[in-house]
Amino acid sequence: MAAFSIDQWLQQARQQLVAGADDEHAASSAALDARLILAHVLQQSYTYLYTWGDRLLTADQLQQADGLLQQRLQGQPLAYIVGEREFWSLPLQVSPATLIPRADTETLIEWVLDLAAEQQIPARGSALDLGTGTGAIALAIATEFPDWQVTGADFQPAAVTLAGTNQQRLGLNNARIIRSDWYQAVADETFDLIVSNPPYIDGDDPHLHQGDVRFEPTSALVAEDAGMADLAHIIAQAPAHLNAGGWLLLEHGYQQADAVCELLTQRGFTQVGNRNDLGGNPRISGGCWPAH
Ligand SMILES: C[S@@+](CC[C@H](N)C(=O)[O-])C[C@H]1O[C@@H](n2cnc3c(N)ncnc32)[C@H](O)[C@@H]1O
Repeated sequence: MAAFSIDQWLQQARQQLVAGADDEHAASSAALDARLILAHVLQQSYTYLYTWGDRLLTADQLQQADGLLQQRLQGQPLAYIVGEREFWSLPLQVSPATLIPRADTETLIEWVLDLAAEQQIPARGSALDLGTGTGAIALAIATEFPDWQVTGADFQPAAVTLAGTNQQRLGLNNARIIRSDWYQAVADETFDLIVSNPPYIDGDDPHLHQGDVRFEPTSALVAEDAGMADLAHIIAQAPAHLNAGGWLLLEHGYQQADAVCELLTQRGFTQVGNRNDLGGNPRISGGCWPAH
């Protein structure tokens, strides 16, 4: 086996990734992907890669790095390859049991922070994250609000285990992770805030055959009724689980904002509105359950 320095491996890995890229984004992230793979194999930082570029890889390191590069060339999401993705500056373990957290979802956390700053939600309260997946939203809220009690719920046992691992690794004792089919396991509980990034993609959407989503589970992505079924269910049942003045915030597809706001208004929510994602599309909608 030929000897490769760190720089040499990075260079040939980047060339292979550019050549094998099926879209512009994959090509532009080739250098970053190569660095992430090698940093993961060496268990070192990027700075190490820059500083020690002429250091030779061992045969074992080379074999591992080449194996992971092949997975990436076959389209496997980088987060699944290295087993980790950062969300709201929290390093989260990820697995094919659930969605890889997206930066756009951080918009939802920003809305929660704004509600707190405007004192629309209490200083000490309770939050429920439905379809918690890795625990991303629940754990970000638990980090930002140490005096809140946060519940993350998912119906996939493997996702519950994953989110529980993330909660423990981060030492967030104000969060609990439970198994629940939407509200089923919290039937008698009410919260000051309910948040969710549920499945909302239409099963016929061609995007399901592109990029990372090809490798993510259908249970995390697809919903009936053109993607609206789970959103509609969560909205319909939310009032039974919200304290007076409590808020419901939902992530959805870029073409679903009007339909979601309509459902919220029909159900009796007030202050209904939405927020744009990082690409400028309305992707988070929410409203307040008024005191009756
Ligand atoms: C789009 S993913 C969101 C994951 C995570 N909240 C995030 O933002 O990265 C949707 C999640 O909903 C969960 N889910 C789907 N149907 C569910 C149900 N009936 N009850 C609870 N969770 C469900 C899936 O297992 C998946 O983890």
